[in-house]
Amino acid sequence: MTTAISIKNLGKTYANGLEALKGVSLEIEQGDFFALLGPNGAGKSTIIGVLSTLVNKSSGSVEIFGKNVDTHVYETKLDLGVVPQEVNFSQFEKVRDIVMTQAGYYGMPRALATERCEKYLRKLGLWEKRDERSRSLSGGMKRRLMIARALVHEPRLLILDEPTAGVDIELRRSMWEFLTEINNNGTTIVLTTHYLEEAEQLCRNIAIIDEGKIIENTSMRELLAELDSQTFILDTASKIPENFDIGLECATVRKIDDHSIELVVSGELSINDVFSQFDKLEVKVDGMRNKTNRLEQLFLSKLKGE
Ligand SMILES: Nc1ncnc2c1ncn2[C@@H]1O[C@H](COP(=O)(O)OP(=O)(O)O)[C@@H](O)[C@H]1O
Ligand SMILES: [Mg+2]
Repeated sequence: MTTAISIKNLGKTYANGLEALKGVSLEIEQGDFFALLGPNGAGKSTIIGVLSTLVNKSSGSVEIFGKNVDTHVYETKLDLGVVPQEVNFSQFEKVRDIVMTQAGYYGMPRALATERCEKYLRKLGLWEKRDERSRSLSGGMKRRLMIARALVHEPRLLILDEPTAGVDIELRRSMWEFLTEINNNGTTIVLTTHYLEEAEQLCRNIAIIDEGKIIENTSMRELLAELDSQTFILDTASKIPENFDIGLECATVRKIDDHSIELVVSGELSINDVFSQFDKLEVKVDGMRNKTNRLEQLFLSKLKGE
């Protein structure tokens, strides 16, 4: 396995004395879809800043695909596309020019740049806007423009700093689909988010950072398995009898009204077992949702050091 990102003992103290990173170590494999999760001020953007050499680190080392970012400045930049947290292109430049200029920074021949520019503006639904000034774009479009710009040199590694902050649900979903597609095609993706459900939906591996320290680094699956119970709200087509009992050891139900129940399932029991039991009892389930976001719960308990 090739390692896409290797961070060792990274420290960053800003000029005002604030210690934003306190010895961060992380390994991210090639092909991974990785989430760096943490509350505001945890140090996520600082890590991304160091990876893209916009922030000078105070200590430690960073490698991208086995190359040190300090000594292999050019090669590591070719491998890396970054979508920053804040919009950072000129509001007066036209959409197409923003992407073309970026291609220019990477020394791409004009014909190739033109082709890639069209490819990614189309993929991100911005081709119709190509001749408009970027300030006329909606917030979601601006974010997609930053993604197109980050991809124009087709890097092996794409890092997105809170890509869906402030983006509406529908757009968020289409962005998720797009990111999943390019990850399936081989691009390693790292994103930071405080939308925990986003990490849960997309990512295979995860690190949680708080106050400049990694407090958890594991697979999404293992992280979720740590939780011993989940609470669901079920809507049923059939009327739920009084004193309804599901008759399973590791599940409890509480009737909310005639057509909805709260179901608590413990870790060992699969949701399939619960559904086959509902079938036996001839209760038809119409819909199901999580009562609480599991990751959210877990996240809070990690931060409290439980
Ligand atoms: N340029 C800077 N100068 C001083 N402090 C900074 C600077 N940038 C970020 N910080 C501080 O460093 C800490 C980590 O910030 P940041 O990496 O932006 O966190 P996150 O992206 O997780 O919200 C915060 O306390 C923030 O206020
Ligand atoms: Mg940030």
